[in-house]
Amino acid sequence: MKRLLSLLLAAAIPTLPALAQKFEGLVPTPPMGFNTWNTFATNISEVLIMETADTMVKNGMRDAGYNYIVLDDCWALRTRDANGSLVPDPAKFPSGMKALGDYLHARGFKFGIYGCAGSKTCGGYPGSQGHEYQDARLFASWGIDYLKYDWCFTETRNAKEAYTTMRDALFAAGRPVVFSICEWGNSKPWEWAKDVGHLWRTTGDITDSYNAVQRWERGWKLILDLQYSQVQPADGPGNGIGQYAGPGHWNDPDMLEVGNEGLTFAESRAHFSMWCMLAAPLMAGNDVRHMSPEILAVMTNKEVVAIDQDPLGKQGWRFRAEPSREIWVRELANGEWAVALLNTGDTAAELSIDFPHMGFLGNCAIRDLWDKKAAGTTEKAFTKRLESHDVALLRLKPIK
Ligand code: GLA
Repeated sequence: MKRLLSLLLAAAIPTLPALAQKFEGLVPTPPMGFNTWNTFATNISEVLIMETADTMVKNGMRDAGYNYIVLDDCWALRTRDANGSLVPDPAKFPSGMKALGDYLHARGFKFGIYGCAGSKTCGGYPGSQGHEYQDARLFASWGIDYLKYDWCFTETRNAKEAYTTMRDALFAAGRPVVFSICEWGNSKPWEWAKDVGHLWRTTGDITDSYNAVQRWERGWKLILDLQYSQVQPADGPGNGIGQYAGPGHWNDPDMLEVGNEGLTFAESRAHFSMWCMLAAPLMAGNDVRHMSPEILAVMTNKEVVAIDQDPLGKQGWRFRAEPSREIWVRELANGEWAVALLNTGDTAAELSIDFPHMGFLGNCAIRDLWDKKAAGTTEKAFTKRLESHDVALLRLKPIK
């Protein structure tokens, strides 16, 4: 009877056009992949993308979850064509974007591209302002699955409106696209972007350093600090911008510099660990074709990636920040926890986590994820010698 009623009702109500919204269900855990910008900037081509994809199949990155390959800025010609369409630079992409997308899809990848809400991209190529619907249709025709959408040359545009316009354009084009908002945290996107995009940058650009500042680029530790100080300086689970992230909508502290030359191995490993604590998108920003086996092992460590990809989708928070030590905690599914101990000092040191004074964690068995071994229980303090800027990353399992 109920079924009959609903069938009758469905027949009586005319089909309305679907209201614009973001595509749901695409990123229940933070997206992972590769982006050209951090290493290649303007020096990009279809050959680079194809070689990168082939490498990621062979070296296990794709199977570890890195499945979005994203072309950043500088892929287009400097002007639109007579129809107002964006044109891929034929010198860099002679086969065209549709063919490149087909190549990636055939190998199990998703295809990402870059655009900008302003009149121009940050690199000075045509922006999508006033062309949103046209560009979204073009991207759909190329098989684009992910759009990173930047904020240069936007003058007085309102960020929420500008990003909502592109969201609606993507939805109207009909091909599900992960929408990556890149307005650098200027208008506090964590407060409004949940229903507009799937991830939003929280800061200006990262660079391959621990704590250098160059123009508006910052080393990863300074970007990590900003995840707290931008909203509320006090440490704690409900503070910082972590409270705004969750399945389908993630804070983006920017792409990885793991493996790039400005970082020591310890700094790369700690950067990766902390991004996993933040439930951050894991977009490789190194040249994966020429990476060391040690860096590959960091990026494909299954147990560490599983922290980032934990299905509960709760971002970690800073429990303690001292001049030479930080402790971060992340609640995981099934009552488990991830805990990171970071040596923020300039020299190697023996550092501890005083677990008996962190009663909220309960009585747990500890596994050290980089050493890949059991490391006692939370009944006692955990102590480890850590190089400068290195990390201990632990997974805690309740003892029943
Ligand atoms: C901005 C973004 C970067 C990158 C460049 C490209 O700076 O924040 O991530 O996309 O533009 O020009």
